Amino acid sequence: MKKIIIAIDGYSGCGKSTTAKAVAKALRYTYLDSGAMYRAVTLYFLENHIDTSQPEEIDRSLREIEIEFRHNEADGTQQVYLNGVNVEREVRGMEVSASVSEISKIPQVRATLVEKQRGLGKNKGIVMDGRDIGTVVFPNAELKIFMKADTIIRAERRQRELLEKGQRVSLDKVQENLESRDAQDSGREISPLKKAEDAVELDTSYLDFNEQVLRILELAKERMD
Ligand code: DC
Repeated sequence: MKKIIIAIDGYSGCGKSTTAKAVAKALRYTYLDSGAMYRAVTLYFLENHIDTSQPEEIDRSLREIEIEFRHNEADGTQQVYLNGVNVEREVRGMEVSASVSEISKIPQVRATLVEKQRGLGKNKGIVMDGRDIGTVVFPNAELKIFMKADTIIRAERRQRELLEKGQRVSLDKVQENLESRDAQDSGREISPLKKAEDAVELDTSYLDFNEQVLRILELAKERMD
């Protein structure tokens, strides 16, 4: 069976990462959360008060940023590290969420992260989720999935996730953030969020999680022969 690349794109909060992780685990593939990379860069920019109107400052910062993913064998989770520090909690917070779409629009940021993502997927056997994986990062991915779900359902899920991480945020605020990110991610000039022509669309509003994963595994197996 040949190894393939599975690209999972879609709107914020449709469960892309949970789905992608489960698919990767079932196939014993690597999982890569490209959104966490944009979030880590955003955190660095916020913490270091980077002036995004200064291209040289952006370039210098990008050279200083080292992003890694480390596995926690004990609980099977994957954590994102920024320059050697575990920032998993900080990158998921509302502060980063409020600025990440703005930072993701910057051409140098995208160019740097796309190059890293291509490098990480060069041996295939990877499931990567994001916004432009099937359209820009891996336009030749063997399987492309485009996920969507009703906004209110996505907001409720994201609110629950934040609560599990100890952050209490109102549903309105979560929904507002999701809608604003959707608008910015879909409306930006470079690599906007859009369904690749050859992507399989999956509306997860009322889909059972296991069914969703099985459907993707079925599609993946068809492409591995
Ligand atoms: O998947 P996420 O919600 O953690 O992603 C956070 C933000 O990062 C998202 O609002 C837009 C940006 N992003 C992107 O521009 N391209 C990607 N491939 C992944 C994320």
